[in-house]
Amino acid sequence: MSDPAVTYGSYLAIDELLALQRPRSEGPEHDEMLFIVIHQVYELWFKEILHELDQVMRRLEEGDVTRAQHTMKRILTILKVLVAQLDILETMTPLEFQSFRTRLEAASGFQSDQFRQLEFALGHKVRGALARFPEDSRAGQALRQRFDARTLWDAFVHYLSREGYGVPADVLSRDVTQPVSTSDALQDVLIEVYRTDAKNAELCERLVDLDEGLQEWRYRHVKMVQRTIGTRPGTGGSSGASYLSTTLMQPLFPDLWAIRARL
Ligand code: HEM
Repeated sequence: MSDPAVTYGSYLAIDELLALQRPRSEGPEHDEMLFIVIHQVYELWFKEILHELDQVMRRLEEGDVTRAQHTMKRILTILKVLVAQLDILETMTPLEFQSFRTRLEAASGFQSDQFRQLEFALGHKVRGALARFPEDSRAGQALRQRFDARTLWDAFVHYLSREGYGVPADVLSRDVTQPVSTSDALQDVLIEVYRTDAKNAELCERLVDLDEGLQEWRYRHVKMVQRTIGTRPGTGGSSGASYLSTTLMQPLFPDLWAIRARL
């Protein structure tokens, strides 16, 4: 017997996919479906971005900057969709959210391992974030792997070094489990890139786009939280919007911002 013909439904596992939205409220409350769907869509895009980021890092290692930038463009386009998607959730009023919020119990975006993976892959390493994810879970294992791995920033500085730039040795051999920090000597190198090397200056600009894009998502998320729950604490145990505000205006690649005043 040969396998049944592939169909749209079988290839995309539509039956399984459509069975995954499981509201917890009585009724259920109408708006809980939107809340579930939007989070699931986010998680799928996080998965895709991580997949593409790995590709960007590989391409930088191969010295293929053209294709690395092509993949970066895809990531940036997805990021724009992620930010725009918050508009949909903002059609949910505070009262509509309150109609099912207690059913979330302590579940929270704090527990999105893929968001933390994304932060880690982009160089925002915070060891404390690992504690929320049991070591033997899928999430815990994936996150620990990302924590120990090099970041996009590391792939970038090694690429620059292979391009012949005098990237300082301490930048190249840095402990990749630490957050990306600033380096005056690297800033001098980046200024040289911007002034003399249009191809690699473009790559730097795409990194800034990515950095700004993630900061934009954080800002829009905080505003959505403020308009939906005001000063209420988060389900994950934080102070809510005031905690989230502390995560704003923190660049992923601080050297690329620091050089602007000197260009
Ligand atoms: C009505 C909608 C939403 C509300 C009221 C809300 C509220 C919050 C709050 C209060 C926090 C702080 C942690 C806590 O104490 O729970 C948080 C964190 C977070 N949320 Fe949301 N959220 C909403 C929608 C979303 C969506 C659609 C996503 C997409 C995945 C998301 C992803 C996250 C992530 C990743 C964090 C951790 C951020 C960090 O620690 O920097 N949230 N959210």
